[in-house]
Amino acid sequence: MKFFVDTAEVSEIRALAEAGLVDGVTTNPSLIAKSGRNMAEVIAEICAITPGPVSAEVTATDFETMLAEGRYLRGIAKNVAVKVPLTEAGLRTCRVLAGEGTPVNVTLCFSPAQALLAAKAGAAFISPFVGRLDDISTDGMSLIADIVQIYRNYPALKTEVLVASVRHPIHLVQAAKLGAHVATLPPQVIRQLLKHPLTDSGLAAFLADWKKTGQSIL
Ligand code: G3P
Repeated sequence: MKFFVDTAEVSEIRALAEAGLVDGVTTNPSLIAKSGRNMAEVIAEICAITPGPVSAEVTATDFETMLAEGRYLRGIAKNVAVKVPLTEAGLRTCRVLAGEGTPVNVTLCFSPAQALLAAKAGAAFISPFVGRLDDISTDGMSLIADIVQIYRNYPALKTEVLVASVRHPIHLVQAAKLGAHVATLPPQVIRQLLKHPLTDSGLAAFLADWKKTGQSIL
């Protein structure tokens, strides 16, 4: 399973990349706004940190302008993946950009039908938002199960399931058990994956017992 980092904070991405935990990055207009930085500059900087796909999202809602924005964003770096919303104009843009060899991440997916349309439009990635479905008492992970099942029925569909809006480690584990290709994780969720109290207490006990031996390995 590939781990993408869901942030536009360069310092967070750099730290996680140094730990070998970054296979790609996803941003969106809200994350860019939160960074307080110029979009083109921060995307270029992120693209220099990781060779993996870096999603940069268009902000237009009409096809013509979306396409122009997508071609501009793709020009920032060779590992930019253009993100488009799951709308009619977004799917039209996806089809054209995919035809030009640009990887497209179709975002704001909330149904299996939407995911099937995105795959037919040639999306490289589909981003179903599990957390936002959970937030309204709908089982977000059942959407992942449906999409994975549908895509497996049609090997000609090459779109990768990129689980987004991840709120906690259980989302990641469940997505991996379902066979999703990618999860995009907020930095704090990645750090949460490491933690277990029994690991901490077990290590402390090992080191306490070792100290009693008076030995040192080096
Ligand atoms: O990549 C999409 C993700 O950033 C959305 O997450 O927490 O705003 O639902 P969230």
